[in-house]
Amino acid sequence: MALLDKAIVRLLPAVPRPVVQRLSTRYIAGSELEDACRVVKRLNGEGKIATIDVLGEEITNAREADAIGREYQRVFETIGEQALDSNVSVKLTALGLKLGYELCRDNLERVVVHAAERGNFVRIDMEDASTTDDTLRMYRELRERGHENLGVVLQASLRRTVDDVWDLADLKPSVRLCKGIYVESPAIQYRDYAAVRRSFLRSLEALWETEAYVGVATHDDFLVHEACRLAEERGLDRYRDYEFQMLLGVRAQMGDVLVRNGHRLRIYVPYGQHWYRYSLRRLQENPKIAGYIAADTVKGLLGANGR
Ligand code: FDA
Repeated sequence: MALLDKAIVRLLPAVPRPVVQRLSTRYIAGSELEDACRVVKRLNGEGKIATIDVLGEEITNAREADAIGREYQRVFETIGEQALDSNVSVKLTALGLKLGYELCRDNLERVVVHAAERGNFVRIDMEDASTTDDTLRMYRELRERGHENLGVVLQASLRRTVDDVWDLADLKPSVRLCKGIYVESPAIQYRDYAAVRRSFLRSLEALWETEAYVGVATHDDFLVHEACRLAEERGLDRYRDYEFQMLLGVRAQMGDVLVRNGHRLRIYVPYGQHWYRYSLRRLQENPKIAGYIAADTVKGLLGANGR
């Protein structure tokens, strides 16, 4: 990223919320479930599958965490009614992890049971490193209680990840592998771009070694290319062993190419009222962020002058 972009990224939290909201519309389906369903229907029409995420990491009390859990119930019902090809992703903080481990586990278990009743699947997103141990522990507990329709996420930028792959091996897990968006201390995280890529590929190979199902979640051409090559080398099945995953609003054309080449591609479709933190993270990753903010500011100024 260029120096100006890096400076803007650091200043993003100071950018007014309406500007952040305008700039992040491409990453979020909308504020209502109907918005997410409309997007998923379009994606399904393009040969892509989806995972719906109810945005909610800004919740502050048990009532809100419970409401997020109940919203997922509505999501499963609607997916069924509209025959959409989509599972769901959940964030444990949205289900109350910071309010209490047991409270969160109960909420998650309810969501997983509702999903199973509808033949659906739940993936637990991975958040910052303060949540990694609890997330992996909860994933294991629920799997050991017999919930098979549950997957988890590992972040290649964390130094621990290859070890985590081996720790999970006995569960034959479904794992989404991504680089990881949260900035952690260098003691626990690779910061160098090439080192993160190397760790991604090491983790991917370890996952396939343990016969995990892998969601290869990246927009990095090099990693997509290497994942295709390694999968072919291992004679893996494009449906049984892995899928690609991308975020709504990011490198859609690259996704189209994957689909044209016969790959299974799942798009992450977030919706909801709690859009702010998710939007900030996406904008911070956009290599063109400085240009977008400058253009939006100029447009705003012109608009104001024109009135
Ligand atoms: P990289 O950041 O190098 O991006 C490669 C290229 O993609 C960039 O050069 C740019 O062209 C484009 N690009 C990437 N992000 C963009 C953006 N926001 N706007 C415009 N262009 C962009 N993380 C996490 O910590 N926990 C999680 O649970 C998840 N879940 C998850 C699900 C799915 C389906 C995906 C695809 C990603 C995640 N992530 C995540 C986020 C992930 O960790 C990572 O931050 C982003 O995917 C960006 O990393 P890339 O691998 O795409 O590489």
